[in-house]
Amino acid sequence: MPPTWTKLIAAADIAAAVAAAGAQIARDYGGEELVLIGMLQGGLFFLADLARALPCPLRVDTMLAQSYGGGLTSSGVITLRQEIHVDIADRHVLVVDDIYDSGRTLRFALDHLGRQKPRSLAVACLLVKDAPRAATVAVRYGLFAIPNVFVVGCGLDLAGQGRQLRDVWALAPGISEQAAGDELRAQLRGGFEPN
Ligand code: IMP
Ligand code: MG
Repeated sequence: MPPTWTKLIAAADIAAAVAAAGAQIARDYGGEELVLIGMLQGGLFFLADLARALPCPLRVDTMLAQSYGGGLTSSGVITLRQEIHVDIADRHVLVVDDIYDSGRTLRFALDHLGRQKPRSLAVACLLVKDAPRAATVAVRYGLFAIPNVFVVGCGLDLAGQGRQLRDVWALAPGISEQAAGDELRAQLRGGFEPN
């Protein structure tokens, strides 16, 4: 039987890409202060890594805009569950998220933050999925292009599980959500090195 989860991106490759992105972003903004807005919960891990790779002054805040039903599919309706607390008016804002999938969450975030009149507003995503878009947004910093598969790790979850994994793991097609979740939990108990 083929494995349920296979390693798609190794932690070492993620670390190298984050270091390069940090250096590029600091150059692009000329060392000026940035406000990083991490999208909860999936963007948290990339946010922490990227912030530590940025040789420039920065503030960190988070917002929670949710669409996901919790499993493999999205409900499509986005609601703001937690507002930012930093005043972003006239500041350079970089929205930091785990993945650009349908685009709905990022579109919502950009519209919401844009109304607070930042000096500039751009997006950084760890992963850019080759998926049908419900909304198109410009991802200025997209670190890895991936196929249209379901992934966990580096902040991405299946029903809340798997975010802490250092590598990104792809779910084999045709596996039920129940079986994928059971295998994920079993592997998490054992250290997650299935292949
Ligand atoms: P959107 O469809 O672009 O709005 O993405 C919404 C959110 O769904 C993302 O921020 C992720 O948290 C989550 N998501 C999208 N694709 C995946 C995936 O492959 N695995 C886990 N979560 C995902
Ligand atoms: Mg998310």
